[in-house]
Amino acid sequence: MKDSTGRKITYLRLSVTDLCNLRCRYCMPEAGVCAKAHDEMLTEEEMLSAVRAAVSLGVNKVRITGGEPLIKKNIVSICEKTASVPGVKDLALTTNGTLLAGMASDLRKAGVMRINISLDTIVPEKYSYITRRGKLEDVFSGIEAALEAGFRKIKINTVLIGGFNDDEIPDLAALTMKWPVDIRFIELMPVYNSPDIGPEAYINASKIIEALPGLKEDCTDGVARLYSLKGAKGKIGIISPVSNAFCSDCNRVRITADGKIKPCLHRAAEYSIKGLSESKMKDQLARAISEKPERRGELSCASPSGAGRYMNQIGG
Ligand code: 5AD
Ligand code: SF4
Repeated sequence: MKDSTGRKITYLRLSVTDLCNLRCRYCMPEAGVCAKAHDEMLTEEEMLSAVRAAVSLGVNKVRITGGEPLIKKNIVSICEKTASVPGVKDLALTTNGTLLAGMASDLRKAGVMRINISLDTIVPEKYSYITRRGKLEDVFSGIEAALEAGFRKIKINTVLIGGFNDDEIPDLAALTMKWPVDIRFIELMPVYNSPDIGPEAYINASKIIEALPGLKEDCTDGVARLYSLKGAKGKIGIISPVSNAFCSDCNRVRITADGKIKPCLHRAAEYSIKGLSESKMKDQLARAISEKPERRGELSCASPSGAGRYMNQIGG
C-alpha cells in the first residue's frame, strides 16, 4: 500500500518484547521499564495476524526486534510462523547478540534469513559500561555462531557515540577484515534523555569517513551508504538518521510489543491493534499508513524525538 505521499510501505518492524537483558545507557534507564501486564502485550497469534494483515497490504519484509527478542520464550516459534506466512520474502532479526550463541542455528532453521547484531565497542570494559551488564565475549560467541549457522547476511550495528567509541572507528571497521560481516555506523538519535549521555555524544556520521582513510565508496543499500576497506570481507555502512533524514524514502511501519502501530518512529501517533481481529488489524494498518507523516520533524538535542517511548519500547 502507498501512503498519502506515494511511499510504498513494504517493510514491517515487529517488536516482540520491550524487555531486555541489557540496559544500554543511551536506550533505557538502569531500572529498566515497568513490565506491562501480560494481557496488554500482543500474543503470538496476534503477532501473526498482524503480519498477515501487513502482508495483505503489500509488506514483504519483516524484521523482528525488541527490546531483546531472544529473551522471549517463544521466539523460535514466532520466527518460524512468520517465515511461513505466504508473501513474507525476507525475514530478519535484530539482537544484542548476547544470547545468540545458543540460538543461532535454531533461528536459521526457523527461517530467519538475515541477522543484525548490535555492538558499540570491542573493548570488554567499555562494553560492560555502556550496556551496564553485558559481557563482550558473549556477543563474540554469538557472532561466531551466527557465521556458522549460515545466515544470508550478518550485519553489526554500531551506534556512534562521541567521547565513547569515536576513537574505535578503525578497530570496529577492521571487523570486516576478520569476518564476512558488514558493519553499519548509526548516528545516535536523541530519543531518551539519559543522564549519562551529554550533547558531545551526538556526532555527525561524516566522522566515520574522516577516521577511515582509504575507504572505497560502494553503493547504497536502503538507508545505508556503503563503503569498503581494501581486502575486506564485508562492507561498511553509514546511516545518518539525524544529519540526513531519509523520510522521503521511508518504506517502513512499526508495531510495538503492546500492539501499537507506529507509522513514524519519531512521532507520538499510535494506532492500537491489541485484541482486534485480523481484518480490523488490517483496517488500522491501512489507516496508520495513510496517515503516515511526511517527515519526522526536527531532531536534535534541543529538539529531541517526539517518539514518546524509550527505544527498547519501539524496537529501533
Ligand atoms: N539512536 C540510535 N540507535 C539506537 N539504538 C537504541 N537507541 C538508539 C538511539 N537513541 C539502537 C541499538 C540497536 C538498535 C535496536 O537500536 O543500539 O542497535
Ligand atoms: Fe537492550 Fe538494545 Fe536497548 Fe541495549 S539498545 S538496552 S540491547 S534494547
